[in-house]
Amino acid sequence: MQLPHFSLRTKIILIFLIVIILGGLLSLFFGSRLVKNTIISQAQTKVKHDLASAWMVFNEKLNDIKDIISLTAAREGVQEDIKNNRQDILLKKLNRVREEHGLDILTLTDHKGIVMVRTRNPEVVGDDQSQDEIIKWMLKKDVVVKPQIIPREELLKEGKDLADQAYLEFIPTPKAAPRPENKETSGMMLKAASSIKDENNTILGVLYGGILLNRNYEIVDRVKETVYKGEKYKGRDKGTATIFQHDLRISTNVKNEKNERAIGTRVSKEVNNAVLKEGKPWIDRAFVVSDWYITAYEPIKNIDDKIIGILYVGMLERPYIDTTKRVMLAFTIMASLCVVLLLVILYFSTTRIINPLQKMVVATQEIAKGDLSHEVKVNSKDEIGYLADSFNKMTADLKTANEKLVEWGKTLEKKVEERTKELAEMQAHLFEAEKLASLGKLAAGVAHEINNPLGSILIYSHLLLEDADKKSPHYENLKKVVKETSRCKDIVKSLLEFARPKEPEMSLININEIVETSLSIMVRQALFQNIRLKKMYASPLPKIVADSAQLQQVFTNIILNAAEAMNGNGVLTLSSSLSEEGSYIEVKFSDTGPGIKEEDKKRLFEPFFSTKEVGKGTGLGLAISYSIIQKHQGTIEVKSEAGKGSTFTVKLPVTEEREHE
Ligand SMILES: Nc1ncnc2c1ncn2[C@@H]1O[C@H](COP(=O)(O)OP(=O)(O)O)[C@@H](O)[C@H]1O
Ligand SMILES: [Mg+2]
Repeated sequence: MQLPHFSLRTKIILIFLIVIILGGLLSLFFGSRLVKNTIISQAQTKVKHDLASAWMVFNEKLNDIKDIISLTAAREGVQEDIKNNRQDILLKKLNRVREEHGLDILTLTDHKGIVMVRTRNPEVVGDDQSQDEIIKWMLKKDVVVKPQIIPREELLKEGKDLADQAYLEFIPTPKAAPRPENKETSGMMLKAASSIKDENNTILGVLYGGILLNRNYEIVDRVKETVYKGEKYKGRDKGTATIFQHDLRISTNVKNEKNERAIGTRVSKEVNNAVLKEGKPWIDRAFVVSDWYITAYEPIKNIDDKIIGILYVGMLERPYIDTTKRVMLAFTIMASLCVVLLLVILYFSTTRIINPLQKMVVATQEIAKGDLSHEVKVNSKDEIGYLADSFNKMTADLKTANEKLVEWGKTLEKKVEERTKELAEMQAHLFEAEKLASLGKLAAGVAHEINNPLGSILIYSHLLLEDADKKSPHYENLKKVVKETSRCKDIVKSLLEFARPKEPEMSLININEIVETSLSIMVRQALFQNIRLKKMYASPLPKIVADSAQLQQVFTNIILNAAEAMNGNGVLTLSSSLSEEGSYIEVKFSDTGPGIKEEDKKRLFEPFFSTKEVGKGTGLGLAISYSIIQKHQGTIEVKSEAGKGSTFTVKLPVTEEREHE
């Protein structure tokens, strides 16, 4: 699975969010359980105390009944009436007591337990109550009070209405334990009995009475009022109390869905098992009729210590659950606010981390575009700061490397250009040299062939001239022949000199001296009278190895050409200098003559190239000079601009080794 591309900030925040939410959920889960348990267990403790209070109310009622019975039994008149068998009076007296104190029954028996007066149902008398558990116990203890189950036939003796008050049909109850019966015909009574004795402590009779708890809500309502102050929650009683006869609700203020007292319903199976079967108190939540309650149940026992019912108090669980929920809601809201606050803090604190990184991203993009001068400005003294520093250092190094490369490229280009030019020049020179060489061969061949015949012509014409009469008309002609032949001989000599130059005779020479000697020979001529000389000799110059006579010939040629070009009028500049590296000496001859045409420049060093009129120039001067300089491993070059004059430059190598040969 491909994860979506999030920014670094989003990733950090997401991770934090996951951690926070996970932590929040866990603490919410455990927190809610803790809060719930704390609140519920506190409520549970309260209910436990409430049950004790309920017992007090219950026992108070028992004591009330006991007091009524014992006090009535102790009244003097009653003893007398029994002794005298005044049943009418007893009925009246006792009935008044019963009505005054709200007892359901109040009955008098004789000392054997045979009913004498039954205030509630005076017609039914004479039955034997001596087997009644409470009366049996009372005979040992004078006065006794206890809850007791009264069977229907006993209740019927007190009247059908009382039996009907006790009668309850079971109402199907969820979670209740199944029972074979479907109704309850007996009732539960708080019953007290007291003996009536004469002065001699002989038992005259037994007075017993009590109240039926079935459908009597006095105790449970008093518990509700005194313990729970009648508090309500959403229209329902918060606190409830119930008296069970066995597992059947006979007196309660727990309401069913129709908001009626839920008598006839039964206790849940769990409570039934714990309290009725095992005789243990039940203090826990329990499902009561239609709701969950925080409850406390304890068994009600009869005089034989047998469990006959249950006393219950309970509080609706809902208010506590709601409180828990409210607490948790408040907690959740607070936690959410904290998360929001954390996120805000996180957002701003990540900015401190992210910003330098973003700067670096921008910088890399700039650098990728070629802007190497871009610098990341991060001042933090942490890993990011170090990263930025290394980054800046890297770009700086990159920049210098790049600059070097560019420069190197430029010099390379320049060098290539220079070398190409040199190569082209060399090629041109080579071509020139070859051309001159072939021309030289031709010229040499011709010169060689005509040199001997010319010699013969010159000798014989000389002889003829010596013998000839000066007055003879042939004399002048002969003289011309001799002169022209001599000229031819000179040309041929020059030609041979050019074609087969003599090997130079090398010696250590001072070049400035050679230039001066050459010049001194020339300046005596009329041609130089109006020429101004400028001399710029570098001194001292290293001596070079050369043939001084041959060099003198070269310099004389160049100086003469310059003077002829200027037509005896102008400035001739002579200069000498050592090259920068000191490897050769340069001698320059600059004139202010007319200059050389571009097309002539190429042919300047060819033998017989001359622009001078026939008879004046042979065109061999520069050709010979060229071959001499070549023999010296030097070069001869010309620069000229039309109208501004020409400059001839002779370069000669300074060869240190030769110096020591
Ligand atoms: N300084 C100069 N100024 C102008 N042209 C020159 C100069 N030197 C030489 N020349 C040209 O070069 C040609 C060849 O010279 P060179 O070989 O000495 O032969 P010549 O002097 O016999 O003509 C000359 O005819 C002339 O046209
Ligand atoms: Mg010349």
